[in-house]
Amino acid sequence: MSSIMHPDNDSTINPSGNISIREVMAQFKGRRNFLKGSLGMAAVATLGGFATQAQAQAYSGGSPTPGGGGITFTGLPPNLAAGFVDAITVPVGYTAKVLIGWGDAIGRPGAMANTHWNPADPMTEALQLTTFGQHNDGMHFFPFPAAGAAGVSNDRGLLCVNHEYVDPGLSVNSAAYGTHPLTAAEVAGQIASHGVSVVELRKVSGEMKVHRPSMLARRITGKTPMRVSGPAAGSALLKTAADPTGTQVLGTLNNCAHGITPWGTYLTCEENFNGYFGTTAAKLAAAPLTSLERRYGVNAGGFGYRWFEQDPRFDIRDNPNEPHRFGWVVEIDPWNPNSTPVKRTALGRFKHESAGYVVGTDNKVAVYLGDDERNDYQYKFVCTGLFNPKNRGANRDLLDSGTLYVAKFNADGSGQWLPLVWGQGGLTPANGFADQAEVLIKARQAADRLGATMMDRPEWVAVHPTTREVYLTLTNNNRRGSNPPSSNLAGGTTTAGSARPPVDAANPRMDNRYGHIIRWTETGGDVGATTFDWDIFVECGDSLSAIPNRQGNIMGDDLGAPDGLWFDKDGRLWIQTDQQGDGEGDWINIGGNAMFCADPSTRQITRFLTSPRNCEVTGVVTTPDGKTMFVGIQHPGEDWAPGNFTDKSTWPDSGVNGPTTQAEVVKPRSAVVVITKDDNGVIGT
Ligand code: FEO
Ligand code: CA
Ligand code: CA
Repeated sequence: MSSIMHPDNDSTINPSGNISIREVMAQFKGRRNFLKGSLGMAAVATLGGFATQAQAQAYSGGSPTPGGGGITFTGLPPNLAAGFVDAITVPVGYTAKVLIGWGDAIGRPGAMANTHWNPADPMTEALQLTTFGQHNDGMHFFPFPAAGAAGVSNDRGLLCVNHEYVDPGLSVNSAAYGTHPLTAAEVAGQIASHGVSVVELRKVSGEMKVHRPSMLARRITGKTPMRVSGPAAGSALLKTAADPTGTQVLGTLNNCAHGITPWGTYLTCEENFNGYFGTTAAKLAAAPLTSLERRYGVNAGGFGYRWFEQDPRFDIRDNPNEPHRFGWVVEIDPWNPNSTPVKRTALGRFKHESAGYVVGTDNKVAVYLGDDERNDYQYKFVCTGLFNPKNRGANRDLLDSGTLYVAKFNADGSGQWLPLVWGQGGLTPANGFADQAEVLIKARQAADRLGATMMDRPEWVAVHPTTREVYLTLTNNNRRGSNPPSSNLAGGTTTAGSARPPVDAANPRMDNRYGHIIRWTETGGDVGATTFDWDIFVECGDSLSAIPNRQGNIMGDDLGAPDGLWFDKDGRLWIQTDQQGDGEGDWINIGGNAMFCADPSTRQITRFLTSPRNCEVTGVVTTPDGKTMFVGIQHPGEDWAPGNFTDKSTWPDSGVNGPTTQAEVVKPRSAVVVITKDDNGVIGT
């Protein structure tokens, strides 16, 4: 099946140059540098990537370099269409090996602990409940406690991995899913392929492996019972016939990227949930789409999954409130396999990409949240309560109370966080917001009314481990700067992704097909500040392009469509890309998807990894010592030809990156790889 399930790289329009806004940018650069210098004085570790504050302090090693922390590997050339290598390639001195892929046993105790799926068969719900889900995305490594100064293990931990979406043709063995005679069992199998996998990893003879069986191994799927908490719990808009309380939801879907909390829980983010819903033409004619549905991209056809034909939960006319129960951030305790995941409504409902937290010197907690849609917004949630590093249980419901803000980027390099608070800024019953629950359920429409800045598709956020500077990937926007111009209407009636805004200072390129990375610092270093200062870290592009608008300003290796973004413990910025992945067309000089390492101080960007054909590189984390890295490869071989699942890619079962669970190649499979340095050094050095 195709990338329609994965609506990222739309065809582009109206190429043109536009540089005048950069002159505006130049005027405030001096001001930003001043602010950056003063912030450095107050810098303290932000805990990015650590289970507890104590662990973070233990790992900080005294003086991590605010810059790159040492980037000394020899960068790779691009993986060009001519001679494309259908494999993971890493620099000399490094090794990448497949860890686990779609359908491999997660090691859940019982008869199926070591039973892998045979990709020649359709995937079933029963088998998916004991095996790794499809199309992995964001992930995190939670280390076990250990003796020693650091207090945590580099040899044993839990890997929590998101499963964003399914390719239904691969799932049911159909070359023509649109006309396939779909069954309820096949829909259940696809629903079970979503969600999260929790696997226990242990180092055996120096190699990190999946430990089977493990009492902590777990699958969370599109059907796992979840609790709804926060201000929207129990709202009339969340009530269904199956759940008249509006507080109990079955499952999580389109689990794109992720986050963690300072208290050691995992956050999974529900992105393109709209694509799973649909209805018949007759039902739609009787009850046309509402503006709330249109603003979130809910429509009759969805992305073509057809689930509503077999499961009325996904029929928007049989169950019009069911889509409101998705589009949230879900908190999961990975250490308790019996825990109930919680949908935290205080963080708002939109197409959540990822959730990046920061803790202030006063233990105030903020979480940065992007809404990945063309011309949608960047948000920040600030908890009312403070993080308690000494009592994990005291933090359990911190994400239920606080203020959700949306970003406005001003042309002078300043910015404001605008509060989504009922009764303020026109968020009133007269404008369609009955209470705070509706402000959160209709967060996009609330942000429309507040006049937030329309962005070029917010993807991952990453917070620098010592300066607290926040970086955000803006992957692309093919509707920026086209004519006639239009904006998301204040009344919230604009259909998702349909506006055509002019360029602005924060999104300075028309037809922004290569994307950029923006960054900001909160005023006074206060994570709860309502103002900030920002600049653009890099405009991505093809430096060999004949069109100035597309060249970008990268120092180092060219890239486009940045998506995954993560700071390691030493302050190296890892950037992953999500473009078409075959090195053709706009990517003829850039090559296939890749992962890069950037130095935030010098802005130098170096290519570290190249990937199999037609995949996306997404998900990156290391063990606490930085010596074992996990990287996700999603949807290798996508857009396969009818009747030939492997015509684009045979990865990973070709064995090119080490043995897998399969002796033969039947289908390409999303998988996670482990990367180590042959001299046992820190990844990136
Ligand atoms: Fe699932 Fe916006 O990437
Ligand atoms: Ca993404
Ligand atoms: Ca993506």
